[in-house]
Amino acid sequence: MTPSPRYRLAHLSDVHFGKIAHPEVVEALVEEVNAAETDLVVVSGDLTQRARTHQFKAAKAMLDAFESPTLVVPGNHDVRAWWHNPIERVFQSSSRFARFITDDLTPTFTRPGLAVFGLNSAHGLTIKGGKIRPRHLEAMQDFFGAQPAGTFRVLVLHHHLLRLQALGDHDIARGAKHALRAAGASGVDLILCGHLHTSHVEHAEIVPPSEADPAGHSLVIASAGTATSSRGRGQDREVNFYNWITVEAERFIIEERRFEREEHAFAEARTTAFHRADG
Ligand SMILES: [Fe+2]
Ligand SMILES: [Fe+2]
Repeated sequence: MTPSPRYRLAHLSDVHFGKIAHPEVVEALVEEVNAAETDLVVVSGDLTQRARTHQFKAAKAMLDAFESPTLVVPGNHDVRAWWHNPIERVFQSSSRFARFITDDLTPTFTRPGLAVFGLNSAHGLTIKGGKIRPRHLEAMQDFFGAQPAGTFRVLVLHHHLLRLQALGDHDIARGAKHALRAAGASGVDLILCGHLHTSHVEHAEIVPPSEADPAGHSLVIASAGTATSSRGRGQDREVNFYNWITVEAERFIIEERRFEREEHAFAEARTTAFHRADG
């Protein structure tokens, strides 16, 4: 079994340049992430508000300010709106994201005992709910299939694959059922997503134990709030959140950090530890 050193990931989502809550929130975020020992900064989509050039440039400047590697997937707001360019929206939905952020639409990150895969769920033919393409799922399965046993597996995408009761009636991506089954078969331990602008962490049983599969499969879903925008929803209205994820040999810990305006800094809001099934 591969030894598992300690890793730390920062998980941000829905930064929405074009709707930044206060300039200081971006500054505080970058400063804090850089001050910590971060192995990877994950951004689960919606970098911009309207996929405009200046918004992508501002998002790229933030990504470049991080000292650690970044893994970024697009969100539905990173695709051009119908009224701007319907042809581009349908046939080249990721073209602006690819031009300004990265042209790698199935990004990966590996370290001994850790494997992270980014899945693109933002496509032009879906308005905002997202869609998973079979060829991207195949790439995911090939990637995780090549990792040694005992590797902690993280899947990053913008949209949700499972309806979580705690979040009310919300979008899930088209093809979610199939994607969740593939994630389970690939041994995914943790899904990092966003889109709903509400910070929530939940342990979910995706394959119930059966005679054929006595262990079944469960994983943890971390749905990040909006890290920097004024678009927080529900209980997180006007509030900014992001996650710290610490992966240890036998457990992993998710710390939800909330921006405290009076302090001009993020602070711990909730911390949840999970036992690793293979730890
Ligand atoms: Fe968003
Ligand atoms: Fe979104």
